[in-house]
Amino acid sequence: MEEAQGIPVIDLSPVTSTNPSSPSAIEALVKEIGSACKEWGFFQVTNHGVPLSVKQNLEEASKEFFGQSLEEKKKVSRDETSASGYYESEHTKNVRDWKEVFDFLAKEPTVFPLNSDEHDHRIIHWTNKNPQYPPHFRDILREYIKEMEKLGYKLLELIALSLGLEAKRFEEFFREQTSFVRLNYYPRCPCPHLALGVGPHKDSGALTILAQDDVGGLQVKRKTQDQEWIQVQPIPHAYIINLADIIQVWSNGAYESVEHRVTVNSEKERFSIPYFMFPAHDTEVKPLEELINEHNPPKYRPYNSGKFLLKRFETNFQKHKEENLQI
Ligand code: SIN
Ligand code: FE2
Repeated sequence: MEEAQGIPVIDLSPVTSTNPSSPSAIEALVKEIGSACKEWGFFQVTNHGVPLSVKQNLEEASKEFFGQSLEEKKKVSRDETSASGYYESEHTKNVRDWKEVFDFLAKEPTVFPLNSDEHDHRIIHWTNKNPQYPPHFRDILREYIKEMEKLGYKLLELIALSLGLEAKRFEEFFREQTSFVRLNYYPRCPCPHLALGVGPHKDSGALTILAQDDVGGLQVKRKTQDQEWIQVQPIPHAYIINLADIIQVWSNGAYESVEHRVTVNSEKERFSIPYFMFPAHDTEVKPLEELINEHNPPKYRPYNSGKFLLKRFETNFQKHKEENLQI
């Protein structure tokens, strides 16, 4: 297993090459994935099968989008009824991040199907507004999402096998998935020591597949005594994979969701594109039966994935509104 400044780099060709791979090559890959998940929770993948042009098209579209005036960008702002769209800023644990965001839900139009208690009677339409804006944006995003889904399923299979589960064990949770792609833009920052692009956090979905440009800034908290921040070195055309909270719960803590953050830069702006894999809204997230027993009882209480996401969306939106009022 290669390492680029710490985090493992894994070659996925045994599951992506057109020539069939030997069972032993796949077995070795599963082992490699298992130790990367256990020791790091973060790794990079090469030979992942995602065409370079698909990523480049989205990178160009992202630059074009964020290069517009604020007034233009705000025409596709997120609001109470749409989780897709532009955000002038995000917050991580109540601190404003030094970045701009555009989110795009994989599936639309979708209705948020919550119906149990009072809070959930509200219906959120996860629609993507202004479909033709800017021209071709939507098609490029969709094409990218298709590739991310393919890669995401392959990774979930490898992760399932590494936990001793059936390869397709996770697939049932993603039939009505609520995954989304995010475009991040980190402008130059005059005082980089005073701000963060994204404050320390863990991702709340199942898995994140991230494309970063060549500027760098993503850092991962190493799970050692020293708790140091490790820089994730940009590798051209590799994807960064990180395990998120839901895999931690499904694996009953065998794999952990790892803290990370993004530093900013006074000389260069930075772009990144995470794809967040989330299961269906009605998924009850809890440790998998195969991974618990009397010696290893469940460490986490079940929770509803959709309710959790809705709450986060509302909190973020509320923050955004308050900030705008103060200006
Ligand atoms: C994030 O973790 O939210 C962003 C990662 C990045 O921009 O590299
Ligand atoms: Fe993150």
